[in-house]
Amino acid sequence: MKILVTGGSGYIGSHTVIELINAGHEAVVIDNLSNSSEKSLERVAKIVGKEIPFYKVDIRDREGLEKVFEKEKIEACIHFAGLKAVGESCVKPWEYYENNISGTLVLVDVMRKHGVKNIIFSSSATVYGDPDTVPVTEKSPKKPCTNPYGTTKSMLETILTDIQTADPEWNVVLLRYFNPIGAHESGLIGENPNGIPNNLMPYITQVAVGKREKLGIFGNDYDTVDGTGVRDYIHVVDLAIGHVKAVERFSLNKGTEIFNLGTGKGTSVLELVHAFEDATGVKIPYEIKDRRAGDIATNYADASLAAKELGWTAKYDIKRACQDSWRWQKNNPNGFEE
Ligand code: NAD
Ligand code: UD1
Repeated sequence: MKILVTGGSGYIGSHTVIELINAGHEAVVIDNLSNSSEKSLERVAKIVGKEIPFYKVDIRDREGLEKVFEKEKIEACIHFAGLKAVGESCVKPWEYYENNISGTLVLVDVMRKHGVKNIIFSSSATVYGDPDTVPVTEKSPKKPCTNPYGTTKSMLETILTDIQTADPEWNVVLLRYFNPIGAHESGLIGENPNGIPNNLMPYITQVAVGKREKLGIFGNDYDTVDGTGVRDYIHVVDLAIGHVKAVERFSLNKGTEIFNLGTGKGTSVLELVHAFEDATGVKIPYEIKDRRAGDIATNYADASLAAKELGWTAKYDIKRACQDSWRWQKNNPNGFEE
């Protein structure tokens, strides 16, 4: 299939492009490069041995999108493009709603005008809020999000579901990611956050490479195995392969489907720090800080539906993800800057 990958030069998008090509699909990437570098696609080309058609287009730019749809015979879209920084979304809610919601509305409108009604959407475990029980299944209730970023994900799930209900020709797959970590084994591409990392793994790797002095652990008084927060860390390559499996759903015309993409295992912050140290031999100094506003104690996936329906389970463990994140960071201390 020829698949438009929005946000395809970003962290998850670039890894997904590789797995699409590996599976025999064609990928066309659009990205406005607001949070990524075109160099990631040069690295992808090195890995897969061919150039990936790239258009520097914003998903809110209807004319720009039209041109891509006119030129390329797109059959489906994997929609990663969006702003994703939780803290920033609280300071700039308008920018988040405008980029993520308006952008998706323009994209979907251009898609349907060109008869392209297959979409996979990047949603998040954040739609479960603070779950009453773990692991969460796709039937667990959605809860109010504590930040505008999360709200955009929840709203877009509803919007895409409504569009599919009104027009059953649409095939919509909503993928709820847990916590992606790791990098491609080549060490050529990986997560490349701007400024101070918000997420745990890039913070750990920046401490390891000497860019930050020590990790701050946000609270050790949660009701968990060692008091630190528990999450479901999933290797980004596993996540990417989950998208390839989801592409196969389009031909089944199942309407709107929702899948958790996680490992089903919870890992605490301290467990991840120690796993990183064991996997790499690099010591991570840390200090315990106050809890971070909006954080929850524990969240991890019940990923059995994806196993049953998509034939997908995560195959890489935390150790492997730590090794791969470290290889990427060590070889590229300044990300895609030479
Ligand atoms: P990323 O920032 O690396 O990738 C997103 C890409 O979208 C970037 O390359 C950015 O330049 C691009 N983009 C943003 N707005 C755009 C616009 N208006 N037009 C065109 N391109 C635009 O982030 P990622 O980690 O790869 O995440 C991909 C998707 O998965 C996002 O939608 C994110 O919200 C979602 N998600 C990520 C995580 C995570 O932990 N990384 C978890 C759950 C969901
Ligand atoms: C965050 C987002 C969530 C998003 C997810 C994946 C918040 C509140 N939530 O979730 O919306 O879907 O990323 O992108 O930001 N931690 C530290 N020190 C750090 C960084 C993190 O101790 O420097 C801890 C956190 O308290 C948490 C765990 O590490 O217990 C994971 O944090 P993080 O990587 O930010 O992911 P989430 O909080 O799960």
